[in-house]
Amino acid sequence: MTEAAGAAAGSGAALVLVGPMAAGKTSIGRRVAKDLGWPFVDTDQRIVAEHGEITAIFAELGEAGFRRIEEETVARELATPGPRVVALGGGAVLSAATRERLGEHRVALLLTTAEAVLTRTHLDKRPLLRDDPGAWARIFAERKPLYEAVADASWHTDRRPKDQIAADIVRWLKEQI
Ligand code: S3P
Repeated sequence: MTEAAGAAAGSGAALVLVGPMAAGKTSIGRRVAKDLGWPFVDTDQRIVAEHGEITAIFAELGEAGFRRIEEETVARELATPGPRVVALGGGAVLSAATRERLGEHRVALLLTTAEAVLTRTHLDKRPLLRDDPGAWARIFAERKPLYEAVADASWHTDRRPKDQIAADIVRWLKEQI
């Protein structure tokens, strides 16, 4: 861990990645964590490990049931002490409690476009897009104010290689501390 990253670790806060579905939160988050030498956590992956596939949770408990599980999982991961990079699912910011918890952390917003998502992404594991790919733009428009309310800075992920974006985020984080 570098000196700057160590200082951030001392603050106990996480770097949290938010943003719409398929913006690259998991892949860029992994790279950022590797660069910093911090653990990486993806809350969707935690949910899958503990409760099963997201499509199955939606089918069984509905979106509301998924959101309850998501809010609990995010709360637990954000409360875990120590430096870490945490990637949230695209809809996690719908929870007011989650938005409030994000105030204690550094939050990076990753943005992309409907065109990039629909041409480059596998939609089968995303229940909200699988049957209605056009939903991405509608859902993003609804959530944009929530993302902007919690974010400390934002990056477009559809225009440059992921490694460069990750390096920018690491540089930004080090400037913060
Ligand atoms: C969702 C985003 C997904 C996942 C679930 C619901 C959303 O995560 O949590 O399918 O409501 O935007 P990604 O943002 O990683 O696709």
